[in-house]
Amino acid sequence: MALLKSEKPAPPRHIAIIMDGNGRWAKKRGLPRTAGHAAGAESFRKIANYCRSLGVEYLTVYAFSTENWKRSAEEISGIMRLLRRYLEEALADMEKNRVRFKFFGDLSKLSPELQAMCRNAESRSAEYDVQVNFCLNYGGRDEIVHAVKGFMADVAAGKREAGELSEQVLSGYLYSAGVPDPELIIRPSGEQRISNFLLWQSAYSEFVFMDVLWPDFTPEDLDKAIEEYHRRNRRFGGA
Ligand code: FPP
Repeated sequence: MALLKSEKPAPPRHIAIIMDGNGRWAKKRGLPRTAGHAAGAESFRKIANYCRSLGVEYLTVYAFSTENWKRSAEEISGIMRLLRRYLEEALADMEKNRVRFKFFGDLSKLSPELQAMCRNAESRSAEYDVQVNFCLNYGGRDEIVHAVKGFMADVAAGKREAGELSEQVLSGYLYSAGVPDPELIIRPSGEQRISNFLLWQSAYSEFVFMDVLWPDFTPEDLDKAIEEYHRRNRRFGGA
């Protein structure tokens, strides 16, 4: 079907973003790294709203990885503070924004207060339909191990047969159970790596790497990434 010049093709259903470059953004300005994360959190707010206006159904963001604990205590507490503040606001505006929240990762390492906020946000937003997945203390390898352990526990409990294991069954034990795989994964900041993000789910994702630092990422940059995605010819292993 021909598109009018002004018409945009439908966006992917699921977009995932590695929010990278906050530290470099801050360094360029002579600011502490935490200021870069604060600017990154603002960028997230803006892009999440824009995704919603485009009709994107799922947005998954890498907010804190299993490897990020290697950072200084000050930086870690700065990121956790930003997450708490964001969740406080999200919980207060829940009915207005109608966003469904999910958290991918091992939340047991987070403070009890933050864990409670995450669980509260998930249960209070379960009926809404635009979904934001926050990857928090998340690692793709850790997620696969967690899924295998979950399956094995069900086998031990007699709820599953070992021979039942398939890609589809294992998918149901991932943090992302029930969420379609992302069609598009964006990594800003010039780095071209997956960094343990959505290893299972990215099997057929299109990757778009961009030179802009995450705090400078604009809705126009998202448009460019979506345009690039539409230029690609997705064959899923077929000819
Ligand atoms: C990567 O940039 C970013 C992170 C490890 C943290 C991302 C966290 C946020 C954007 C704030 C979270 C809060 C909300 C509400 C979304 P980097 O620090 O590795 O940057 P660098 O590579 O330039 O050092």
